Amino acid sequence: MFLYMSAVAALYGCNSGNSEKSDASGQKDKGNIGKVIYGTLPDGAEADLYTLRNANGMTIRITNYGGIITSWTAPDKTGKYEDITLGCDSLSDYLKGVPYFGALVGRYGNRIANGKFTLNGQAYTLAQNNGPNSLHGGIKGFDKVLWQAIAVDGEEPQLKLRYVSADEEEGFPGTLTTDVTYTLQKDNALSIDYTATTDKPTVVNLTNHAYFNLSGDMNKTVLDHEVAIKADRFLPVDETLIPTGELKPVAGTVFDFTKFKKISEGINADDQQIKFGGGYDHCWVFADNSNSLKEVASVFEPGSGRVMTVSTTEPAIQFYTGNFLDGTVTGKGGVSYAHRTGFCLETEHYPDSPNQPKFPSTVLQPGETYRTTTVYKFSVKQD
Ligand code: GLA
Repeated sequence: MFLYMSAVAALYGCNSGNSEKSDASGQKDKGNIGKVIYGTLPDGAEADLYTLRNANGMTIRITNYGGIITSWTAPDKTGKYEDITLGCDSLSDYLKGVPYFGALVGRYGNRIANGKFTLNGQAYTLAQNNGPNSLHGGIKGFDKVLWQAIAVDGEEPQLKLRYVSADEEEGFPGTLTTDVTYTLQKDNALSIDYTATTDKPTVVNLTNHAYFNLSGDMNKTVLDHEVAIKADRFLPVDETLIPTGELKPVAGTVFDFTKFKKISEGINADDQQIKFGGGYDHCWVFADNSNSLKEVASVFEPGSGRVMTVSTTEPAIQFYTGNFLDGTVTGKGGVSYAHRTGFCLETEHYPDSPNQPKFPSTVLQPGETYRTTTVYKFSVKQD
């Protein structure tokens, strides 16, 4: 059995190079994974910051507070590695409250209508932390808890995180044990593997909420990015962003991303769904509804040549274009994140599934293992 340690990271195995390295944060360590103290939480617990590197030069920093990806470098068409994620410079900045930058989201990613659902005849009440609805697991969701961590060195370094959520935490039934493994692959992909088990029937929908701006310049919007999503239907929502229950064909609508399209093309359309979302903030349902790992979305940023592809075992994806960013949150390097300076592709089951029996079930039973994988892979397209 694994011993999960938050204070001391076990470094297993050794990278063939085994040379001592130091990086911008002054961190010195051996191999492809390092760890420094990130800061202290209000309850006195210490959070750590891990750095995962691969031989190409990709560097991903992740803290065990919220499982947050704080930075992630990817090469442009000239080979220059730049940070392509939104986030904060310090733990204290994350603690001030930011909109889920890079965080693990649970127990239930996305919305549950009116913060209520019924399971096996029992009614459950959750925090209404987003208008009338419950969003992203509630007030102190998985993005705001300290995860136990094990760092595993190797050619493809891993950070293994565990969080045990108590029965009734944030209103959800069952003790839920969640394991998330981040693996930085040698092909410039980050794989995120999630498993969870419960001791009572419950609902689960886990995701990661990284915001990307592939230009590497967070002073720019993402409107020029070109997006393709292998989805033939999307979920129309009401004015509080709860799905109406309809699975609407994207054909003939501004939600059609079956071919690459600039985000700017439809984001300001005179369309009721776009108005409800303040832009794109909807769930797309994949044409391939198998639970195998399949490529579901790609994003291309013409200036840098960066391409990001998303593969997942999930049936759907929330494409959110940073419509709630309004310059009030200051991010890394003192940059104010203006409207639409980042986009998210959150792989998931459909929002509000616990209240919508026609949607694929998000119920997890004792004895079952919830299991899902999402891979974000970077490459470049030359002109
Ligand atoms: C999700 C939601 C958005 C917004 C962001 C966080 O992606 O769908 O409406 O709440 O999280 O700001």
